[in-house]
Amino acid sequence: MNILDLAKKKKSGEKISMVTCYDYTSACILAKTTIDCLLVGDSLAMTMHGFESTLSATLEMMCLHTAAVKRGAGDKLVIGDMPFLSYRKSFNDNVTAVQRLMQSGADSIKLENADGNLELIEHLVKSGIPIVGHLGLTPQSVMAFGGYKIQGKTDEAADKIKRDARLLQNAGCSCIVLECVPQSLAKEITDELLIPTIGIGAGKHTSGQVLVYQDLLGFNPDFKAKFVKHYLNGAELITLAMNTFVDEIGAGDFPDNEHSY
Ligand code: KIV
Repeated sequence: MNILDLAKKKKSGEKISMVTCYDYTSACILAKTTIDCLLVGDSLAMTMHGFESTLSATLEMMCLHTAAVKRGAGDKLVIGDMPFLSYRKSFNDNVTAVQRLMQSGADSIKLENADGNLELIEHLVKSGIPIVGHLGLTPQSVMAFGGYKIQGKTDEAADKIKRDARLLQNAGCSCIVLECVPQSLAKEITDELLIPTIGIGAGKHTSGQVLVYQDLLGFNPDFKAKFVKHYLNGAELITLAMNTFVDEIGAGDFPDNEHSY
């Protein structure tokens, strides 16, 4: 899978599938699935490091996790996320940050919002780097949004997101993640744009869907959001396996002869 395949999928009407991935072992498992792309999202600050928001993700973290994922990802498209403010410094610093993430193993770079990023995006695209945009509830702006709230609900807010989507397409973005926006807005944008849209909490009319690995697998059952569906009761299954391990140790049933030299 490469970045051009995403556009082909939109053209043929085939849906795109994406999941976040932050580590080598999970990447090896995902490499053998039918999923299209792996996003090394800055959500790893929360899922892998226990921080409250993505604002704590650093370029060092993103590079380390991207390199680990790339080593296991096989031929999956690996998208690396630019962390908080890493692309809002001087032009040279921004390009250097992108260079570091690409050289860590990203096949494509994702960054949030359009305002103030268009010149950088155009430069990166002209430099041969596929860029994924991100609009709607962009978590790096959580403080400005006053919390994790659905975006684009008023006509004015919806118009701004539509305008930004056009600007990102014109700047050369290969696709756009739409997060937590009304499905009617996501549909309008998807129908208008030539490039694909990937939704999370944006309804079913986008060109594809992305979910966070830990959410999809039910590793954190306490996190409840309307758009999250658990395809596995991961936390329950791991708890059961661990408690069985402990019980078998206590009962002297593990290791048995089969697992001993
Ligand atoms: O960081 C992330 O996981 C993301 C997805 C939620 C799209 O940006």
